Amino acid sequence: MNVLEAIHARQSIRAYQARVVELEKLEAILAAANRAASAANLQAYQVYVVRDAARKQALVAAAAGQKFLATAPVVLVFAVDPVRSAAKFGPRGEQVYCMQDACAAVCQAMLAAVELGLGTCWVDAVDEGLAGRAIGLPAGQRAAVILPLGYPAENPPRTTRRALSDLVRDLGT
Ligand SMILES: Cc1cc2nc3c(=O)[nH]c(=O)nc-3n(C[C@H](O)[C@H](O)[C@H](O)COP(=O)(O)O)c2cc1C
Repeated sequence: MNVLEAIHARQSIRAYQARVVELEKLEAILAAANRAASAANLQAYQVYVVRDAARKQALVAAAAGQKFLATAPVVLVFAVDPVRSAAKFGPRGEQVYCMQDACAAVCQAMLAAVELGLGTCWVDAVDEGLAGRAIGLPAGQRAAVILPLGYPAENPPRTTRRALSDLVRDLGT
């Protein structure tokens, strides 16, 4: 599978098999996230790997009760670390770059998962406070994206997209 194939094959998966995610696959996904672009290469985020039922349930509560995420054998939490970025970039680092860094990493993790036959779904950490307490985030970090990961137990219909003619404004040469 090449990158374009992975991009077009990816879709949100919200039902997972109980099957364990092999450690080498998990490590490959984390390594793919780690190669993502980030502002000044500061990587102003932290990735947490959650496997235990109690923490997963606490994350469900933080994500407005989205129970499906607890059925994934592994849940990754991408937490922004604004201080890492603010030291160089000030408020823009604190408010924008740390989130952009984390989101770039999430996208790479999602695509790597596709390549390895795994499914993910970007879940908003609706209540950052609850999410932070669920996984014991240190002061200063904030949960941004919750990413359940597992072998798909569903093949959902493809979602639609805006037409490129609507999405893109080509400003010419
Ligand atoms: C910022 C963001 C927040 C999202 N939050 C949720 C969420 O809380 N729960 C959920 O089930 N899906 C969530 N999604 C997934 C979207 O619903 C999904 O990507 C979109 O419907 C397109 O479907 P696809 O990913 O299958 O192409 C989120 C996606 C993004 C980018």
